[in-house]
Amino acid sequence: LSNLTSMEDLTVEELMALIKRASDFKNGKATFTAQRQIFTSNLFFENSTRTHNSFHIAERKMGLDVLEFNAHESSMSKGETLYDTVLTLCALGVEVCVIRSSEEHYYEKLVNSPNISCAIVNGGDGSGQHPSQSLLDLMTIYEEFGHFDGLKIAISGDLTHSRVARSNMVMLKKLGSELYFTGPAEWYNAEFDKYGKYVTLDSILPELDVHMLLRVQHERHRKDENFSKEIYHNTYGLTEERAKRLKSTAIIMHPAPVNRDVEIADSLVESRQSRIVTQMANGVYSRMAILEAVLSNRNF
Ligand code: CP
Repeated sequence: LSNLTSMEDLTVEELMALIKRASDFKNGKATFTAQRQIFTSNLFFENSTRTHNSFHIAERKMGLDVLEFNAHESSMSKGETLYDTVLTLCALGVEVCVIRSSEEHYYEKLVNSPNISCAIVNGGDGSGQHPSQSLLDLMTIYEEFGHFDGLKIAISGDLTHSRVARSNMVMLKKLGSELYFTGPAEWYNAEFDKYGKYVTLDSILPELDVHMLLRVQHERHRKDENFSKEIYHNTYGLTEERAKRLKSTAIIMHPAPVNRDVEIADSLVESRQSRIVTQMANGVYSRMAILEAVLSNRNF
């Protein structure tokens, strides 16, 4: 891989190789130790706990030199663009830039520039894509079931604003899973019809192998939007009552941060069927696999 900007970039074979490698890192069957000095930089223009810190830990585990980047302390505060910032970091010798931005497709100008030689890893672009989250989600599903084909998976909630949902629906369709979407009609988009069926949660719940919840992304909604946490939870959320209708082998997932008692009942977040904490832990190994893949394209 030269860059990882979207799950559209990956074939099924490339994805499975990344999952295998991430699992090997997790199980101690593989290690990566940089044999020369390699600088990476993490440029986060939207807040993050999981993605930012797990990339940082992955980089440190791999013996990479992490140049932490703070937009407010950089010349971006004087108006320098993201393009010129990345051009500069690459000229200084940074080889991988992990970037999160609220601007969708920000990465296109970077990966198409003949003068930007560093690898670009998308840590999330607005409501666009979140490929490293998708990899850790798919790794978590694969650990549980050992395959994707025919699994019944529902993605529920704030679909329109979710880059996680977009990345996962693209890949799960390629992998042969049976996808369902649930949630408020105003947060559903007809473009998702090519990946799965829009249904009510109650109609599909007992058949599911995987129930993926999405965070209600208040920061991407209109300020004047009426929203009742209680009504949302009772109408669209995974309540304790609804969870009793899941198969005992079904798993509950959420990319987090979680709005407890909104998309999912507080008591279910750390329940037996929840894999939310496993997803977080798998983030480190998935990101190691991504970093290794983009670095293997370079001479190290
Ligand atoms: N899931 C996820 O992307 O979390 P952060 O926003 O904390 O990175």
